[in-house]
Amino acid sequence: MPKITVVTRAGDETVLDASEGMSLMEVIRDNGFDELLALCGGCCSCATCHVHVDPSFSGELPEMSEDENDLLDSSDHRNEHSRLSCQIPVTGALEGLKVQIAEED
Ligand code: FES
Repeated sequence: MPKITVVTRAGDETVLDASEGMSLMEVIRDNGFDELLALCGGCCSCATCHVHVDPSFSGELPEMSEDENDLLDSSDHRNEHSRLSCQIPVTGALEGLKVQIAEED
């Protein structure tokens, strides 16, 4: 069970035990982070699960799909570390990952 650090918009950090097989969005949402709305439930159609990912883990993440890229383009808060957390499956390779919940659009 990899440990993942979630940073809120206010900068508060919490370390979570993440279950492999879930998406990063599900792990964050199910641990009570209301800031992460995840309105579409993980269908890659809302962009309310936007996070900024620790750049040292970029090589461990799945390629970004065209849909994810297009949705992130609709955010005013996109940067080079932006991902939609529902598109990131939790694996052992994410041990020690840190993600910050992106500002709300
Ligand atoms: S939960 Fe809607 S795009 Fe991720």
